[in-house]
Amino acid sequence: MSYIWYCIMEDLETDLLKFKGFYVHHKAFDNDFLENLDDFEIRDDDIFVVTYPKSGTIWAQQILSLIYFEEHRKRTENLETIHRVPFLEYSSGHIDFGKRPSPRLFVTHLPYYLVPRGLKDKKAKIVYIYRNPKDVMCSCFHYVNTYPIFKAVDTIEAFMKQFLEGKVVGGLWFDHVRGWYEHRNNFNIQFMMYEEMKKDLRSSVLKLCKFLGEDLSEETLDGVVKQASFENMKDDPLANNESTLYRNFGPKLREGHFLRKGTIGDWKNDMTVKQNERFDKIFQKQMKDFPLQFIWDVNETQN
Ligand code: PPS
Repeated sequence: MSYIWYCIMEDLETDLLKFKGFYVHHKAFDNDFLENLDDFEIRDDDIFVVTYPKSGTIWAQQILSLIYFEEHRKRTENLETIHRVPFLEYSSGHIDFGKRPSPRLFVTHLPYYLVPRGLKDKKAKIVYIYRNPKDVMCSCFHYVNTYPIFKAVDTIEAFMKQFLEGKVVGGLWFDHVRGWYEHRNNFNIQFMMYEEMKKDLRSSVLKLCKFLGEDLSEETLDGVVKQASFENMKDDPLANNESTLYRNFGPKLREGHFLRKGTIGDWKNDMTVKQNERFDKIFQKQMKDFPLQFIWDVNETQN
C-alpha cells in the first residue's frame, strides 16, 4: 500500500479529505501537486498571502493585485484578480507557475508545515491575515450553504460542532493561527488583522507596502484603498469571485454572495448567547497565553 493511503482519509459526511492532518475539499484535491509541494521552487521575490479560509483572502488578493499591476489600477485589462494572485494549492493543472513573471503573487490556506521548503528557508515574503474566529465561522457557515460544492449544514449549532472539531476546509482554526504564529521565526512573515484593515484600510495598505518594500505615491495609494473597499469589490465582477465560483462549481443553486457582509461582529446575528459562551470557553482554553489580540465587535474598532 502506498504512503498516500496512510495520510489521506475521506470524510464522507462532510466532503472533506484529510491530507497530512489538514482538511481540503475532495474536489479541489490534487494529490500529486500537494505531495510534491515541499520541492516547489520558491523565488526570493515571491509573495504569499496565507489565511485560514474566510479571513480576508480575496481582499488581500485585490490589494496585492492593485499594488503590483498598473493595468488593474487603471482598469486597462479585463482580468479577474484571482488570475493575478492565484491559489497555490487549487490552481495546479491550469497554471504553469514556473512560467509566471516575477514577482509572483500567491494565496494559500495551507498550514505552516505543508508549505514549500523554500518558504521555511525565509526565501520570499508571507503576509498572514487573521480574523476573529466567530466571524470566520459564521462566514464559513453561510459560504457552505451558498455554494453547492459543499454539503449544506442546516444550523449554526451543527456547523459550530464541525468548526470546533476542525472538520472544515482549513482544519482547526486554533491550529492554523497558532501554528503560523508559533513558527513565525522560521519565515519572513508579517501578520495583519482583518479588523484593523476594516478600521483603517489606508494604514493597513501602508503597513503592507512597507513590509513589501513598495513605495506608492499618495495618488496610487488612494486608488488602491478605493478599489479595495467592500462596496467597490462587491460590485466589481473582476473582484467579487462570483464568476470564478460559477465556472468552477457550476450554477449557484442557493442564495448568497461571496462578498456577503464584510463586517465585524456579524456573528451576533447567527449565534445564540449560549453558543457564544460555549465558544468563548473553548477559545480561552485553546488560545491561552496567545499574544495576538482579536477584535470581536465593530465598536472595539472605534477610537
Ligand atoms: S475564502 O473562501 O477563504 O477565499 O474567503 P475569504 O476571501 O478569506 O473571506 C471572505 C470574507 O471576507 C469578506 N471580504 C471583505 N471584507 C471587508 N472588505 C472587503 N473589501 C472584503 N472582501 C471580502 C467577505 O465579505 C467574507 O466575509 P463575510 O463575513 O462572509 O461577509
